[in-house]
Amino acid sequence: MARCSPLPPPNWSRIFSQDELAQHDGAADEDKPIYVAIKGTVFDVTTKKAMYGPSGGYHCFAGKDASKALGMSSLKVEDCVADYSGLDEKERKTLDDWYTFFEKRYPIVGKTADA
Ligand code: HEM
Repeated sequence: MARCSPLPPPNWSRIFSQDELAQHDGAADEDKPIYVAIKGTVFDVTTKKAMYGPSGGYHCFAGKDASKALGMSSLKVEDCVADYSGLDEKERKTLDDWYTFFEKRYPIVGKTADA
């Protein structure tokens, strides 16, 4: 499928608290866009609602910074946390690859308060 419109420029000025980000998991408020944060950068993944919304296989990543889980290739809710300090070198590379993947696909709408 062709992608005709370029991504909007990143908005680095919007800062999300953890609570605010949690409102964007597709379930807390269905009308709000769905966000996933990686290494403190918040991406708008609403175009993939089927994956990240309440019934999607990757819903565990929505409304939070899921860096650790992405690095570990884990879908466990307890791994979906921002602190990725425990990741080894290989897992950090996996995490960085996911960051690049998201950066190419999804608009950046802000960053997390603790980033
Ligand atoms: C049996 C295991 C798995 C299968 C068969 C699978 C399958 C897939 C497929 C087919 C896609 C591409 C979907 C599309 O673009 O339409 C995808 C994307 C993805 N997978 Fe998996 N996956 C598996 C496990 C995992 C695990 C353990 C993780 C944890 C990090 C993961 C994270 C992701 C993410 C973040 C995407 C990108 C979604 C997007 O934004 O487009 N997957 N997976």
